[in-house]
Amino acid sequence: MTDPSPRRLDESGAPVRFEFEGREIVAREGDSVALALAASGIRHLRDSVVSGDPRGMYCMMGTCFDCLVEIDGQPNRQACMTPVSEGLNVRIQRGAPVVGESA
Ligand code: FES
Repeated sequence: MTDPSPRRLDESGAPVRFEFEGREIVAREGDSVALALAASGIRHLRDSVVSGDPRGMYCMMGTCFDCLVEIDGQPNRQACMTPVSEGLNVRIQRGAPVVGESA
């Protein structure tokens, strides 16, 4: 059976290191945070405030808002719309998004 895990088709970008929940993630220059996490096997980015079920990236183009994470202490950041940069501190978003805060 074929491995269904996401994988990179192009490994040519310069490495960019950041942290997710204390784990070092090695991304590639030009990746979004969501892409880098998916390529590292990470799908759980927050919990549903309604059901508590795990949520993660879905559309990968900024429309579903399922990929909200906390980046450098700022909640409500869309992982799929945020480019990686060296040393980011990304965490699972805990609690509900707040209307009026940047996403
Ligand atoms: S995955 Fe849909 S907005 Fe990021």
